[in-house]
Amino acid sequence: MSLLSLSETELRARTSMKWRTYPDDVLPLFVAEMDVLTPQRVVDAVAAAMAIGDTGYPHGSAYADAYADMAEQRWGWRPAPGQMRRSGDVMNAILGLLLGNTVPGDRVVINPPVYPPFWQVIQGYGRKITQVPMTEAGRLDLAGLAAAFAGENKPAAYLLCSPHNPTGTVHTAEELSEVAALCTAYDVLLIVDEIHAVLVDPGVRFTPILSLPRAQNAVVAFSAGKGWNLPAFKGGLYIAGRDADSVNQLPPLSNQSTGHMATIAHTAALVHAQEWVDQVMVEVAANKDLLERLLAARLPEVRWQREPGTYLAWLDCSALGLENPSRHFLDHALVALNDGATFGAMFGQYVRINLATNPDLIDQALARMAASV
Ligand SMILES: Cc1ncc(COP(=O)(O)O)c(C=O)c1O
Repeated sequence: MSLLSLSETELRARTSMKWRTYPDDVLPLFVAEMDVLTPQRVVDAVAAAMAIGDTGYPHGSAYADAYADMAEQRWGWRPAPGQMRRSGDVMNAILGLLLGNTVPGDRVVINPPVYPPFWQVIQGYGRKITQVPMTEAGRLDLAGLAAAFAGENKPAAYLLCSPHNPTGTVHTAEELSEVAALCTAYDVLLIVDEIHAVLVDPGVRFTPILSLPRAQNAVVAFSAGKGWNLPAFKGGLYIAGRDADSVNQLPPLSNQSTGHMATIAHTAALVHAQEWVDQVMVEVAANKDLLERLLAARLPEVRWQREPGTYLAWLDCSALGLENPSRHFLDHALVALNDGATFGAMFGQYVRINLATNPDLIDQALARMAASV
């Protein structure tokens, strides 16, 4: 049975951001929530905990152990228990690392277009952004990074998104090794957000940066919240490379914001729902095929460079000649997409569409978008 088959009526019963931000006549394909039912083993684990009143504080290493087992099975690499500690969620892990290891005024490098909270977590806490945009080909700009690290305004940290949100780029082992070597050479703290790690097209290899011998300076922020659609359960892990002491400089209380129920839900997902997420990505790949066909047939001016990571697609609408594509599609097609400008000021002609949904809704959205131009 397919997982991405929930109907619009079923989905409209939800009360989360995706389904309640806009009125009922708007098709929401924006925020990164998946339109799936929760894996049954996760439902069972949470229900069993609730049934016995197991609603206290988290304890033990079950989440870290489950992550290590997954890493070994999926990627042939296993972090040691001492390398992992719990975090509240990925963005708070990144915030903790930045607060503990940089001071206001320090520069942090990011690669626009990139996930909007990356901008907020840096600028919102008095740090400055150095932009090294992704290349035209959608890859990391290694020469640009080297120049930024060597330049006058030397950055204190580099915040890398792997795989990359919104483009879906999956960085290669070579690129990641090179990035880590640059950070070592220039003494730049390397923080890697691997929340999309399991969300890659079937058969595509994701490289966890800490599996690379040259990248032991990195510290990774991970959460099962994205891969298994559990952001309602806030939890995550810091995973530190063998040479990374940045996790030893976290501000007080950084490890205390994990919910026990999140630990239970995320652990059940990691232990019992690996095939489930692989099945989701089979269906997402089919939705990427569908999007390709629909764009070619209905909106051939829109450019999309298909990438193997994430369930998101980054659409270049420049050729449509619209002043503000996301606003246009919301007002005239009643389709809610993410505004490219929130991923970087120069990307206002882009929109991000979420493909982790029923293919019928993608079809409907593309029909409405085409009719609106
Ligand atoms: C790259 C990236 N990092 C972090 C998050 C948010 O994670 P969390 O809720 O664990 O902070 C998201 C959510 O979409 C994301 O895409």
